[in-house]
This record gives sequence, C-alpha cells and structure tokens, in this order.
Amino acid sequence: HDAVTLLGLESSCDETAAAVVRARLRDGVPQGPGEILSSVVFGQADLHAAFGGVVPEIAARAHAERLDIAALRALEEAGTPLASLDAVAATAGPGLIGGVLAGVMCGKGIAMGAGLPFVGVNHLAGHALTPRLTEGLAYPYLLLLVSGGHCQILAVLGPERFRRLGTSIDDAPGEAFDKTAKLLGLGYPGGPEVERAAKTGDPYRFALPRPLLDRPGCEMSFSGLKTALRRARDRLVEAQGGITPQDRADLCAGFQAATAEVLSIKTARAMDAFAVDYAADLAAAGTEAPTLAVAGGVAANTPLRAALTAACAARGWRLSAPPLALCTDNAAMIAWAGAERLLRHGPDPMDLPARPRWPL
Ligand code: KG4
Ligand code: ZN
Repeated sequence: HDAVTLLGLESSCDETAAAVVRARLRDGVPQGPGEILSSVVFGQADLHAAFGGVVPEIAARAHAERLDIAALRALEEAGTPLASLDAVAATAGPGLIGGVLAGVMCGKGIAMGAGLPFVGVNHLAGHALTPRLTEGLAYPYLLLLVSGGHCQILAVLGPERFRRLGTSIDDAPGEAFDKTAKLLGLGYPGGPEVERAAKTGDPYRFALPRPLLDRPGCEMSFSGLKTALRRARDRLVEAQGGITPQDRADLCAGFQAATAEVLSIKTARAMDAFAVDYAADLAAAGTEAPTLAVAGGVAANTPLRAALTAACAARGWRLSAPPLALCTDNAAMIAWAGAERLLRHGPDPMDLPARPRWPL
C-alpha cells in the first residue's frame, strides 16, 4: 500500500457528515496533506433554531435518518465504490450519545457489509489532526479548539498523543456566543449574529469582566461573562423599558472583545509554555517556527483571529487556520484521523462502544 482511502462518518453534534479521504503513506504512516475526494455535510441548524440550541433527541433522529444518505452521496461524489475502500471510520465520542450511537452503528454496518475494517475515532482527535490533513503539519504543534461544545488548548504530540494545557471550567465559548445571542433576541447560531451586531458597537461602553485572567495558568471561564451581560441588559430594560439596537450592538461588542481577549491571552500563555516544554521535539522535527492551529466554529470570529494573529506575530509563531468548512464539524477530519489510527493500531473491534465522554 502506498495510500489508504477511508469513508468517514460524523454525527456527534448537529452536523450529519460523510467524506472520503485518501492518505498517502510513507513507511506505513499517513503523510499529509490528504486528498479530500468528497465531503458532505447536512447541517441541522434549521431543526434546532426554534430552541436556541441543539436538542439531543431531535439531533439523534435526524442523524439516524440522514447518515446513510450522506454516506451514499460521499461515495458517489468521490467516485469510489465501497469495494475500493480500505476502511470505514466513524466518530465514537465524545458527543451527544444518540448521534454518536447512530454514527457508530451506521459505520459498523457499512464496514461489516463490505468486509472492511472499522475504526472508531475520537471527535477531538479529528479536530486536532486537521492541520495534518490540510497542510501536512509535522508534530508537535499547539491547537486551540473553540466551538459550541469544546474549549481546549492542546499540545498535539502524535496521532494519539495529546496534552491538554487549558480548558474552560464551564461553558464553551460558542455556547456563550449562542446564549448571548438568545439573551439579546438575535438568531441561532449566535456567533455570526453577535459578530455582525458588534460591528457597529462600542466595546468599551459596558465594563464586562475578564474571568480568570488574573489567575495564572490556562484555565478559562465564560459563564460569568454571560451573567454580567444579562445584568447589564436587565439594568437597561429597567431604566428604559427595553434595549435599543445601539445598546444591543454595544453589548455584543463588549462580550466579543472580552471573549477574544480571554482566549488570546490564555492561548499566548500556553504558547510560551509549549515553546519551552517542547523545544527539543520542535528542534528534532526541524521546525523553525512553532505553529498555533485553530479549529472549531468560534475560530471564524474576526476579532479573535486578529488577536491570535498578533500573539503569533509577537512570538515568531505561525498561525494555521484551516478553511472554515474544515474548522467546523465535518467527516473529512474523521476519515483522516481514522487513517492515522488504523495504521497505528489496526482496526477496532465490532463491539467498540459509543462514548458520550472520551477525554483525549
Ligand atoms: O464547530 P462548530 O460548527 O460546531 C460545534 O460546536 O461542534 O461550532 C459552532 C459554534 C456555535 O456556537 C457558533 O455560534 C460559533 O461556533 N460560531 C461563532 C462564529 N461562527 C460560528 N462564534 C463567534 N464568531 C463567529 N463568527
Ligand atoms: Zn466539533
């Protein structure tokens, strides 16, 4: 084998996705960048919009209904019959268990029917290994993963070797954006709505907190920020009977600035620790400038990107931001991580469980 081709499935949150990815091998190890032969994503935002967040039961049903359709379309678009594949990979956790279960069952079914190996992939590993798929980035590197469900700063040391340098002790930042939007009467998903509203806002009008910034280390918190925002809104409602579009813009700008500041300062701390802890590994890999990679829907946020770009520039780091479609949930990253896992560990057993929690 000089390459492997995998079908990947993703269904751990609110995207039903399937993709076919080819990974070239060198000495039996996948070498990026990989070739994305197809990547199908069926979003569910329309199903959850009325509730202002993902409803697990609705998500699970939609995954069960659409996974096979997504898989068939991915195979068709890639022009790869099942028999030409080397394995089937599916997200086996962490995530909303109904959806994860639907994906694992579908993946095992396809693999069994076609006589192919099955690989269960950690969703976070999928995000973490994306820069290898997109640009063939060498280990080690640092990853900031910020989405509706995740908030992690990870040292990515190998396909199954991760060290967590920081995380949120409460809400994920995307969740905080979504709750902020709901609080201010904006639509779902909230991130893009808040960013749009913030464009005409004054980030300094409301003094919102920077949670945990005064504490050393890389732990983060976002729920206090949301509470402060609610209080500011309630004070306005009390004083003037409602909030004006300008109030809303200012609140959004204040919230967004605080979030970007907390995330970028904590990430910068992790960068400094990483550069010291892994200096020898970086030198051994011949890496001249360490790389900070970003992933997750919140990585689309323009002020956050600007703050991270500045943090990298100040330290002589590279910033790697994969295209947005590969930052948010997709199955190409699952197929790629599946290839890395398959060649390291071989296939997973057919009784591999679906796991709601699965820390890296
Ligand atoms: O990675 P993703 O598509 O799904 C998971 O949560 O796994 O991330 C979705 C999250 C949502 O909370 C959404 O509000 C947030 O990413 N988001 C943004 C932006 N675009 C999406 N947050 C801030 N600014 C944005 N431009
Ligand atoms: Zn995700």
